[in-house]
Amino acid sequence: MYQRISIHGQWSSRLMFILAATGSAVGLGNIWKFPYLTGEYGGGAFVLVYLICLALVGIPILIAEVMMGRRGRQSPVFSWQTLAADAGANGSWKLVGWAGMLAGLIILSYYSVIAGWTLAYLVRMASGSLIRVTEEGAGSIFTQLVMDPERMLAWHTIFMVMTIKVISRGVKKGLEQAVRILMPLLFALLLVLVIYAWRHGDFAQAYEFMFNSDFSKLTPAALLTALGHAFFTLSVGVGAMMVYGAYLPSRVSIAKTSILVALLDTIVALLAGLVIFSIVFAHDLAAGDGPGLIFQTLPIAFGQMPGGSFFGALFFLLLVFTAWTSSIALIEPMVSWLVEKRDVDRIRAAIWTGIVAWLLGIVTILSLNSWSFSFSFGGQLKHHGLFDVLDILTSSIILPLGGLCVALFVGWVMSRESVSEELGGGKSIGFKLWYFVVRFITPVAVLLVFLRAIGVV
Ligand code: PHE
Repeated sequence: MYQRISIHGQWSSRLMFILAATGSAVGLGNIWKFPYLTGEYGGGAFVLVYLICLALVGIPILIAEVMMGRRGRQSPVFSWQTLAADAGANGSWKLVGWAGMLAGLIILSYYSVIAGWTLAYLVRMASGSLIRVTEEGAGSIFTQLVMDPERMLAWHTIFMVMTIKVISRGVKKGLEQAVRILMPLLFALLLVLVIYAWRHGDFAQAYEFMFNSDFSKLTPAALLTALGHAFFTLSVGVGAMMVYGAYLPSRVSIAKTSILVALLDTIVALLAGLVIFSIVFAHDLAAGDGPGLIFQTLPIAFGQMPGGSFFGALFFLLLVFTAWTSSIALIEPMVSWLVEKRDVDRIRAAIWTGIVAWLLGIVTILSLNSWSFSFSFGGQLKHHGLFDVLDILTSSIILPLGGLCVALFVGWVMSRESVSEELGGGKSIGFKLWYFVVRFITPVAVLLVFLRAIGVV
């Protein structure tokens, strides 16, 4: 069997990969972004399309990316280069690795700002100042935060330092330990919240909103957003799963493991959505409130719960941790590339990359208040400011196009033998089905949705 060795080390076991990959997948995307997108795009139909995108596009590409990573055993740029050379293909394929790496950096820049919000809320919750907060109170606390660039900058800086710290110690040491404790805790807490929402929120209406599909609301922009979010939530299209795959021990089954990771990720997103909309509807709040949604709803719920300050603080703490385990995945493609390319040590690579992402994050901070402007992309919906530009550029453009290239490369450029050798089970039904989807369904679906959103078809 064909073998390369990663210079960055390996996960110590399959379980560690599952925890790290789930840590990367489960993040702000599940608990912050998925609910607010669902709210903005009108509920059930969006959720259904998102689930279809996960099944037909996200999961097949996740498997393909992890497979490419393990076969290349390097940072995404170099894995692309090596695999293209192996297949006798054009070296320009590595540009996909480049695009993903840059997208990861851009996502990290605003991700860190939002993670900063969660840090700010953690402190507020723990201080008890949100006890029995009213709807107006919760709304104005959020507005004050977003209108205060210095405060946001401070939290953004703290989060970026946290990210640099872990990544510079190597993924294995810092990360493996943290995710082992944090992931089960996150699930336990979500369960507590589900029970709360069930008993005190409007669970029935939330369920109805999320699972009753009204297709009249499904614009081409909503389709592309659902597709883009399927990439974002599974961490595919930026090379994060590819680089995690590069550290995966050889005997582990990529397909089964990836499907498990995707399932866990989806469960967290759906549960988070149910919790948040139960609270939204019970308090007559607006579901389409955008990025502030969880920050304006959860404090109300926690503010009324017995022990709310404690649970609320714990929840935001876990949100910080899940953001942390994702930000590490966002930065790893570039850090591993710098280590390989420039021969710098990890610490320096982490600091340089972190500084660039930190500077870019300032753009997001300013765009939230002083640099606001409106524009529209792929349909009626109006977007505001540079924050949305960066989000659309990455989630709706680079990630889907990157994913399309992965599908084309794995389905049409790499030989079937190398693909099946790496994945195992070349004769099984599962493999054949996946291979068919990656070759035909995934590329066509991504292209169609993309072209429709930009108005070509
Ligand atoms: N999947 C993460 C989330 O849902 C975000 C992410 C995207 C992380 C790409 C790594 C790479 O929050």
